[in-house]
Amino acid sequence: MELADKTILLGLTGGIACYKVAELTRLLIKAGATVQVAMTEAATQFITPVTMQALSGRPVFTSQWDARIANNMPHIDLSREADLIVIAPASTDFLAKLAHGQCDDLLSTLCVARDCPLVAAPAMNRQMWANPATQRNVAQLRADGITLLGPDSGDQACGEIGDGRMLEPEALLEAIIAFFQPKLLAGRHVTITAGPTFEPIDPVRGLTNLSSGKMGFAMARAAAAAGASVHLIAGPTALPTPYGVLRSDVQTAQQMYEAALASAAGADLFIAVAAVADWRVAQVHVSKIKKQDGHDVPHLDFVQNPDILAAVAQRPQAPFCVGFAAESDNLEAHGEQKRRKKGVPLLIGNLGPATFGRDDNEVILFDAHGHTRLPRADKQMLANTLIREIAQRLDAAPRQA
Ligand code: C5P
Repeated sequence: MELADKTILLGLTGGIACYKVAELTRLLIKAGATVQVAMTEAATQFITPVTMQALSGRPVFTSQWDARIANNMPHIDLSREADLIVIAPASTDFLAKLAHGQCDDLLSTLCVARDCPLVAAPAMNRQMWANPATQRNVAQLRADGITLLGPDSGDQACGEIGDGRMLEPEALLEAIIAFFQPKLLAGRHVTITAGPTFEPIDPVRGLTNLSSGKMGFAMARAAAAAGASVHLIAGPTALPTPYGVLRSDVQTAQQMYEAALASAAGADLFIAVAAVADWRVAQVHVSKIKKQDGHDVPHLDFVQNPDILAAVAQRPQAPFCVGFAAESDNLEAHGEQKRRKKGVPLLIGNLGPATFGRDDNEVILFDAHGHTRLPRADKQMLANTLIREIAQRLDAAPRQA
């Protein structure tokens, strides 16, 4: 319920993408938001107010002259109740009106009358988006502090391909949730490792572990929502890439090491969440090792993988480094030991069996001042809290020479 206590005025303007806003409404409500829908006359040609009322559970407003509001000023009342106005889809015409402060219907008037932030999700044909007049309006809107979400690029309803598609409802929901997060990592470059690694034995077998990647992906999502530019280096996992995050997929510890060292060289912050295999098989078999009945089991030699976190932390001008530690017992003693061994200012400890694959987690923070226990929480909520804790320490830390 990341939008609990938030009221969103969802404004629909004319465009085929209106059908996607039915789904966005459901997602916003599921995330805990109160959704008040207002539509332009053109939007009602694409989706009915009946549908939007049924999905939002509130009467829909389309007219400036709607007498249902006691003082007959829907443009004031509706905008005052909102924490955020979301225009989706935002047509070419509506962007032009917004850029000029024009007020010729309820939605455009309440946008001008608002005292809350406004975000808009453009949706139009690629030529309409590329038109210099639209681009002028977009530049003006940005200068006025309006946030544009998208547009996306790809297939368009008209059959053409290019920029101008509205972002998908799931991406819009992510962007709206992120909009409400304090921008504690604005301007920061963050590298995060996540998930397990997979060390091949032969072409069909390998060594891996039970890490799902959920905690690392939640950290990446929280860091992006806090305004950072995030590079997520992920071991094998089927999790979707968080909105606004750049992702590189790797398989082995060695590949993760190379990707992480290159990425962290330009980063302000490195967060190692991945459960990296400690060993790999010295000689990977090129063909499948055959089982031979009555014969000895195969003998495998192992070599140790590089410690990615320790290697990044030891680099000159290292970013602020944060490690995770999954212990099986005696977390309080092992956590501080591990922090010192890795040479990092902050280590987040958890009990492996109590976190792997689960949606919630309980952690202890170890830093130079001692340790702090955080209560068990959903991994995403916990990640948001951890990003706040990390941002405070990062702001206070001098960059290493
Ligand atoms: O030593 P241990 O595996 O318990 O340390 C855990 C921390 O170190 C995690 O942050 C993990 O991502 C990181 N690590 C690493 N490279 C390794 C092993 C662990 O970056 N080879």
